[in-house]
Amino acid sequence: MSNKLIIAQVTDMHIGPLEVSYRGVKVRQKFLDVLQVLAKKKLDLLVLSGDLSALEGEPEAYVWIKQALANFPHPYVVMAGNHDHVVRMSRVFDLPKGDISQGMLYFSRTIKRKRLLFLDSSPYRVAKRQLAWLNTELAHYEEQVLLFIHHPPSHCDCQFMDNHHPLRNINEIWQTLDQLPQIQHIFCGHYHTEKTIIRNNKSIYLTPATVFQIDTKKSRFAIATTKPGWRIIEWGEQMLTYVEYL
Ligand SMILES: [Fe+2]
Repeated sequence: MSNKLIIAQVTDMHIGPLEVSYRGVKVRQKFLDVLQVLAKKKLDLLVLSGDLSALEGEPEAYVWIKQALANFPHPYVVMAGNHDHVVRMSRVFDLPKGDISQGMLYFSRTIKRKRLLFLDSSPYRVAKRQLAWLNTELAHYEEQVLLFIHHPPSHCDCQFMDNHHPLRNINEIWQTLDQLPQIQHIFCGHYHTEKTIIRNNKSIYLTPATVFQIDTKKSRFAIATTKPGWRIIEWGEQMLTYVEYL
């Protein structure tokens, strides 16, 4: 059996309590269309990296998403974005109690002997408690790990999002990240665009949303396209990652 780990990252679905459209494109249907493509791939894991719900963790959205994933043939994990609500997510998805601490959803998984770490940046910060947890998790672990955070821990040369919705404790986070050479690859959403940024020799990958992409050149909010995208991560001897669109 191949020990290559294959992950799909889907992010920023912004599913509402009812079906809505942007530019005539239905948000729920697009997510279903993406799932249909991903179901046919050989995946070890699907990561839903936050902003699952439209605005504020609407439970109807979580119930609908869980239902949509009921027959999905691969395992999945959910992460919290700024439009999510950890308690309601936990209830609907029946999340393991150990994945939640002080109301924050941060956890690790080991698949095919490879380690994945997931943080909760839903209040636009990564709490000190989570940074301490990262240090503890990696204190006696020298292999590479992949890190997932909803918010990119950097400005990304995306005008509207950098100016209005950036992560607020970027410098504090780097005080920890800079001490952890095991983390070379950081996978994010939130910015609704595709991009790779190198900061302090680590790669930060922005994954496009399923709901719509944001125009990175405009200082005011503008939709660039409603074409949904996702990211594939193939991690064997090397780490290979690329974005696909529907
Ligand atoms: Fe977000």
